[in-house]
Amino acid sequence: MAMLLKPISHHHFSLAPKFKEPRNPFPSSRPSLNSIFNSSKPINHSLSSSSSSSSCDTSHQALTLVHEFNPQIPIQEALTPPSSWYTDPSFFSLEVDRVFYRGWQAVGYAEQIKEPHDFFTGRLGNVEYVVCRDDNGKIHAFHNVCRHHASILSFGSGKKSCFVCPYHAWTYGLDGALIKATRITGIKNFDVHEFGLIPLKVAIWGPFVLLNLEKEIVPQEEPDSNTVGNEWLGSSSEILSTKGVDSSLSYVCRREYTIECNWKVFCDNYLDGGYHVPYAHKGLASGLKLESYSTTMFEKVSIQRCDGDQVESEEDFDRLGSKALYAFIYPNFMINRYGPWMDTNLVLPLGPRKCQVVFDYFLDASLKADKAFIERSLQDSERVQMEDIVLCEAVQRGLESPAYCCGRYAPTVEKAMHHFHCLLYEDLSK
Ligand code: FES
Ligand SMILES: [Fe+2]
Repeated sequence: MAMLLKPISHHHFSLAPKFKEPRNPFPSSRPSLNSIFNSSKPINHSLSSSSSSSSCDTSHQALTLVHEFNPQIPIQEALTPPSSWYTDPSFFSLEVDRVFYRGWQAVGYAEQIKEPHDFFTGRLGNVEYVVCRDDNGKIHAFHNVCRHHASILSFGSGKKSCFVCPYHAWTYGLDGALIKATRITGIKNFDVHEFGLIPLKVAIWGPFVLLNLEKEIVPQEEPDSNTVGNEWLGSSSEILSTKGVDSSLSYVCRREYTIECNWKVFCDNYLDGGYHVPYAHKGLASGLKLESYSTTMFEKVSIQRCDGDQVESEEDFDRLGSKALYAFIYPNFMINRYGPWMDTNLVLPLGPRKCQVVFDYFLDASLKADKAFIERSLQDSERVQMEDIVLCEAVQRGLESPAYCCGRYAPTVEKAMHHFHCLLYEDLSK
């Protein structure tokens, strides 16, 4: 059997979404979350919560940088955002606050919490989270921070019947309740019910687990999938779910890459419409039918489909026919569906010049036993990722050079990138 397309999370396709649904105004309730969660150290919700004049100055500086990009200018005439968007620490803080602490964010896949007692942990910005399924099968997400003296509570992923803090062994149920506070004899004015883990809003859409860090008050019920789909994917949700982005595939493995570049450099690379492919992925370019791309734009999602050239007709694994589908979900999640494969790329901001990209691979269950096929596909994917890492790190170094401020767009291929920048502007300027 042949690989239908390279199992590459690729971008070699892209598009230009055109509009965006309105967002709720931001400032909401975060200050009180900070005060509940950790009164001495706000969780990087800097703009909404704090306080000091220097942080105000920093915020002001970041907002000034936001307006150095003008989304009103058509792509043919537009300048790209200035390099400060990719290098400035205050801009990075603003971005974490206004882009990642709002709306649904992909954080994992549903198989990670398939059964009661399954859990996984992660971090987005300064928010440490744990997602789990309790004794009754209900899904929860919490800040992964002990209410005693703030230790991270749980690490990695796996199965647990409760969370025992590694520091002084305060113990929490998977429903977040504090079930044991050790050696607190003599404590006064302490209500164990007020010291459960602080919940986060969690949902599942298809094969993915999403968190929303926006709201202080978390509804007890899990939001229904249609609502979540509409909120996260807008009008693209039905298309994605009917074109093979669903829960039927079987999880294969995860690959993680730490890259010395701003998270947006990786997204931009994905969104350049295959522009770099013939020059930077020479091995890959010959296998792609660049002329066959079709692009569909949605509010915050762009989907491109293209013909694969390696389909073997006798092996009809491809539920998309001969097409592959590549979706970018603002701000940092890519879904690539090709032949029997799906892979997702989650781009996590770690600092102004550092990000981590998490690749999760899923495969048609009928092929899971074919180790040679899987290995070959993953190796091909890895090779392209390494080529992209070199590109992204080189761009970051250039962005930090005094020689560069703004660039230009190639209008016919870089529309999705321009749209991405416009969406960022919209979030950041609110
Ligand atoms: S910090 Fe968790 S028990 Fe002390
Ligand atoms: Fe690439």
